[in-house]
Amino acid sequence: MRCPVKLKRKFVPSLLQSFVPTAPDIEKLVDPRSEEFSSIVSGIKISDCWRTTSRHRHMLADELIVDCSRNLYDSKAAIADFGVSDGVTSVQLIMQLGCDFSRFFMVDSNLDVLCFVDHAGRITVQDEHSEQFSIRTSRFFVVYRNAPESWFPFTWISNWYLSRSLENERSMRMRISLLHPEARELIECDSRVTAERLDILTPWPFLRVNIAKVANVLNRTYYSESAISNCIESLWAKILVGGRLVIVENRSVEKVGVYVRTQSGFSLDVEMNGGSEIDAIVREYQSG
Ligand SMILES: C[S@@+](CC[C@H](N)C(=O)[O-])C[C@H]1O[C@@H](n2cnc3c(N)ncnc32)[C@H](O)[C@@H]1O
Repeated sequence: MRCPVKLKRKFVPSLLQSFVPTAPDIEKLVDPRSEEFSSIVSGIKISDCWRTTSRHRHMLADELIVDCSRNLYDSKAAIADFGVSDGVTSVQLIMQLGCDFSRFFMVDSNLDVLCFVDHAGRITVQDEHSEQFSIRTSRFFVVYRNAPESWFPFTWISNWYLSRSLENERSMRMRISLLHPEARELIECDSRVTAERLDILTPWPFLRVNIAKVANVLNRTYYSESAISNCIESLWAKILVGGRLVIVENRSVEKVGVYVRTQSGFSLDVEMNGGSEIDAIVREYQSG
């Protein structure tokens, strides 16, 4: 559960930060050099899904993907990472792969947001596809429209404060990328790497991939069993026969399930730390 009204972290002594709800400076989203970029993006929730991410969370999965790419595909694997958030985890995987891949797609249903900056430097972040999502800053606070009702009266205060953001019609409006500066730089420098705004469920407009990685997306907090099953069907159609689907979940440990894409579904190849929590759904899927 997350509180919809948080004090800006810079005003709270570090000793107290475990006891008081704090947020990083959302204003720094507009500053592409910000060290805190991933932590700011992690506090964003669009369409019921948090964008939580951080470096070093897919050590096991990335090692397996690098091995697959080198050994199974002679370093020519096309790889898609679905649900990348700001892309820092993709950047780490690409660094580990070195030259050993032919294409890398960073895929997410949202790659940017609308941002309004008023005369006092306060910002409002919104997404035109998700009315429920909105963040607004004041001098000392960050107010979110993404927390459950149980935080009364904070939810009431946040709704009241956010409804005033209509004033922002008069403020400067811009579109900001949610991709980490390092991800943007990689995309600019390496033509094999692209960012694609795409829902897992939508048809894949590219050549099918050898390896699809899906980390911290297909879990029961965000999706019902039947929605997860639909996503698995959609992923199956995007992977070549013999290719791999890598499902990662970061709980107290990193849990990984690697599946071989067969003619009719998926079969388990490798699992680590108990494997994927949606293992049964993946293995039950049968095409047609
Ligand atoms: C919790 S974050 C995980 C980020 C990263 N994979 C990681 O493990 O650090 C989930 C991400 O999945 C994206 N996402 C959720 N559902 C999606 C869908 N149906 N298609 C594409 N992206 C989706 C969200 O926008 C969000 O950025």
